[in-house]
Amino acid sequence: MNNRLCKMFGIEVPLFAFSHCRDVVVEVSKAGGLGVLGMGRMSPRRVEEELKWIDEHIEGKPYGIDVLMPTTYQEAGEGGALKFDPERLLPKEHLDFVRNMLDEAGVPRLPESEAARLEKEMVEEFSFTPRESAQMIEIALRHPIKLIVNALGSPPKELVERAHGRGIKVAALAGAPKHAIRHKQAGCDFVIAVGTEAGGHTGNISSMVLWPRIVDAVAPLPVLGGGGVGRGRQLAAALALGCEGVWCGSIWLKTAQSEVLPEIKAKLFAAQPEDAVLTRSVTGKPCRTLRSKFTDAWDRPDAPKPLPAPLQAILWWGQGRTRVERGAKAKDFLTYPVGQIVGDMTEETSVKQVVYDMMNELLESKERLDRLLG
Ligand SMILES: Cc1cc2nc3c(=O)[nH]c(=O)nc-3n(C[C@H](O)[C@H](O)[C@H](O)COP(=O)(O)O)c2cc1C
Repeated sequence: MNNRLCKMFGIEVPLFAFSHCRDVVVEVSKAGGLGVLGMGRMSPRRVEEELKWIDEHIEGKPYGIDVLMPTTYQEAGEGGALKFDPERLLPKEHLDFVRNMLDEAGVPRLPESEAARLEKEMVEEFSFTPRESAQMIEIALRHPIKLIVNALGSPPKELVERAHGRGIKVAALAGAPKHAIRHKQAGCDFVIAVGTEAGGHTGNISSMVLWPRIVDAVAPLPVLGGGGVGRGRQLAAALALGCEGVWCGSIWLKTAQSEVLPEIKAKLFAAQPEDAVLTRSVTGKPCRTLRSKFTDAWDRPDAPKPLPAPLQAILWWGQGRTRVERGAKAKDFLTYPVGQIVGDMTEETSVKQVVYDMMNELLESKERLDRLLG
């Protein structure tokens, strides 16, 4: 393909891959698409390590980064110390709710010193505040990145200007046309329209309805369609609806290169589309994630209201995840962000194979349409 987005980055196919996993980023870029590394869960130190590794393995292909820069957030304290003290940071009601939930289910507590170490390790990796995002961008600008994507809101004008000054493109995710228009006004080079089917933070409008509305709202700016794209027919649909490429996140979780635990992968392979639920229970913002006993518990009448971001994420990561993931491997409580295409994800494969299958099915869709349209 040779459309505007392919030309913008010198890529063969307008397939953009969001992943927290550096191997996925490298493999997608090497397969002719563009890998984008999600940095929202990394400390600045780790960002440097990951980008260095990517530079050494990507064979000069283009790649990008994705940062979480929320426009509204609850200050969680900078630099660390506050973050490691859940008793000070999180309301007792919420701490008790999670601790009791896991106690009652018989999920063993971790030995105290180990719990504190794991909690610290996990929460330290979690970067969400504007200052942390800015630090990460400074580090990333020292690497040959070609794209910066902002996950939560429009990127600041100053960042757009700096990026453009270095020949780096800027984009942002939008779940509604009004957000997309703001991104265009902020100077984004393209917009990523993400329908409610998507894994992770998402809005309420389905891709089928959202994509053409955003395409029209920001024309002539190019648009990527995200949310519910894991195969060639869905890529064909995005192109038919006016998008110039796609943005995929969930599909990479099924690959051998993905970051998820084998126990979570097994749950993903068994899940149906309706098991990908939209909940505030894991980050404080509506986030589509695999249904589990943890996500269900927050729907109970006695459940407290989830805390604002990033406190709810700190609660889940520090108090829940350490115990159910790193400790007991309590299957019923394991969860991970994933979109509705989880129902189509039934077995492990490689990143290369996903890209190849997608392109093959895209061609089949084109031939089918050609036949249908005569
Ligand atoms: C495991 C996972 C984590 C995600 N984390 C982020 C994130 O940190 N930043 C972001 O911009 N999007 C994040 N997303 C959303 C993706 O960028 C993308 O919008 C979404 O995956 C597209 O829909 P799909 O899941 O149907 O492919 C995440 C998605 C998944 C599946």
